[in-house]
Amino acid sequence: MTNSPIQIPVPLSRQPYEVIIQEGGLNNIGKELLKAGIQKGIKVLVVSNEDVAEPYSKICLNSLSSSGYDPNLITVEAGEQNKNLSTISIIHNAAYSAKIERGSLFIALGGGVVGDMTGFAASTWLRGIDVVQIPTTLLAMVDAAIGGKTGVNHSGGKNLIGAFHQPRLVLIDPSTLTTLPRREFIAGMAEVIKYGIIEDLELFNYLEKIQLYNETSSMQLDQSQIYKILERSVKTKAKIVTADEKEKGIRAILNYGHTFGHVIETLCGYGTWLHGEAVAMGMVAVGELSVIRGDWTKEEANRQKKLIQKTGLPYKWPKLDRDKVLDTLQGDKKVKDGNIRFIIPKKIGLVELQDTVSTEEIKYCLELLN
Ligand code: GLY
Repeated sequence: MTNSPIQIPVPLSRQPYEVIIQEGGLNNIGKELLKAGIQKGIKVLVVSNEDVAEPYSKICLNSLSSSGYDPNLITVEAGEQNKNLSTISIIHNAAYSAKIERGSLFIALGGGVVGDMTGFAASTWLRGIDVVQIPTTLLAMVDAAIGGKTGVNHSGGKNLIGAFHQPRLVLIDPSTLTTLPRREFIAGMAEVIKYGIIEDLELFNYLEKIQLYNETSSMQLDQSQIYKILERSVKTKAKIVTADEKEKGIRAILNYGHTFGHVIETLCGYGTWLHGEAVAMGMVAVGELSVIRGDWTKEEANRQKKLIQKTGLPYKWPKLDRDKVLDTLQGDKKVKDGNIRFIIPKKIGLVELQDTVSTEEIKYCLELLN
């Protein structure tokens, strides 16, 4: 059974765009660009990484050429450890060589790291050119590719350098998930679970019932289950980004689990844990913090932990020096007026922003987690 395409609008006032979920959609990327009003004939720089370019770049480039675009491909190293300004320079150099102009386009074909870097390179090349996101990992499909957050890591913290730069279009082709390694698929599920906790109780209940892989490690989910996961997650993301494009308020709830998660990524070394894995451990940690504060029930925190564990995600807090954890928390973007901002779960499907968490509560939480 083939599901029909789903179009989910992101109706931002300055630059509205669509997220299209379409099995085999990569074959039609050229036509989709034309439909989105992107001028025929322009130069397009497709940025990808070897593992993704090998199976998918030809399909993408052929579709672009057939629709009258002039595409070039560059591959960069993916992985959080390469999400830095040196890789941005490599993309800028490729843009220079390909004579990318103001009216040209960048396309990100890959996971969250490729998407974040391509978006950032596009936001800075010639003071900003258009970008289209074609996410090929579950994590990028449900989160990173939508909403215009772009950037790179700094040695002091995750994503400290970046810009908001909304894409012209996001095209999700679920068939690209067939080549995604199991560990990466599972890591992407952390962001799906996140949507369950912050907004979507029904999705959370659904995730508790489904089985991702069978005993022989083969994907157990069928196409309609994958569509359901994608559609519900994208709808929540689109709704929140539309309400608060630049994270002045409500959008911060999308960072649920990320405050502690970013600490894990920074202190364990970028690339040790996949982003989604760090978020999973971060969600368990902030669940514990919420229980300590009396904001959440132990039962619901356990339900979250059980779902994370069942999904195959790590849930135990890694061994980390407590003072370094506190220092890194202070350096995160989520610090406001010196207070660390946490997204605290109140019940499954409802969270709130909290700037009042005390250092004592954090220390106590870390003691319990260790
Ligand atoms: N990934 C969090 C956000 O887009 O705001």
